[in-house]
Amino acid sequence: MKIAVFYGSTNGNTADAALKIQKHLNTDIYDVGKLKNGDDLAKYDMLILGTSTWYDGDLQDDWDSFMSHLKSADLSGKIVALFGLGDQEGYGSDFVSGMRLIYDTVVEKGAKVIGAWEDKGYSYDSSASVIDGKFVGLALDEDNQSELTDSRIATWCEQLNTSLKECA
Ligand SMILES: Cc1cc2nc3c(=O)[nH]c(=O)nc-3n(C[C@H](O)[C@H](O)[C@H](O)COP(=O)(O)O)c2cc1C
Repeated sequence: MKIAVFYGSTNGNTADAALKIQKHLNTDIYDVGKLKNGDDLAKYDMLILGTSTWYDGDLQDDWDSFMSHLKSADLSGKIVALFGLGDQEGYGSDFVSGMRLIYDTVVEKGAKVIGAWEDKGYSYDSSASVIDGKFVGLALDEDNQSELTDSRIATWCEQLNTSLKECA
C-alpha cells in the first residue's frame, strides 16, 4: 500500500509531528504549502493529513489554499487518517477543530477514515473534531503536552497498522 503524509504547518509543530509519523510508517511526505496542485494525492492508497488549528477553529493557512485541491481530488476508495495540532489551554473552546474541516471534506468525497483517537488525557472545553467522544484523528498539543507527543504518535501509528490489517 502506498502511503503519504500531507501536512500544513506555520511554526513547525505539525511539520515535526509529520516527520515522526513518516518515520514510524515509512511513508512519503509533502508540505502542502509547497504543492502547486493536488496531483500527488492521486499517487497514494492512503493519505495521512495533518493540520494545526488557527483563529478559533480554522485550518492552518497552507491548508486553506490546498483545500480546493483536496475537494477536487478523487478520494473514493482511499483510506485517510488525520492528525491535528492545537493548544487546549489557550484555545480550549476550539481545540484541534481544524481537523474536522478536513474530515468532513474527505468523508463527503468517499474516503474511509481510520485512526479515531480517545479524548482521555486532554483538558479542553469543546472541539469540533470530537464525534461520539473520540477525536476524528490524533490530537497533539506541543504548547502544553509536548512530553506526550512521541508516545501518542507511536501508539497511534500502531493503531493505524492494526486498522490497515483489518481493512486488507
Ligand atoms: C493566533 C493563534 C490562533 C490559534 N488558534 C487555535 C485554535 O483555535 N485551536 C487550537 O487548538 N489551537 C490554536 N492555536 C495553537 C496552534 O494550533 C498550535 O500552537 C500549533 O502547535 C501550531 O502548529 P504549527 O506550528 O504546525 O502551525 C492557535 C495559535 C495561535 C498563535
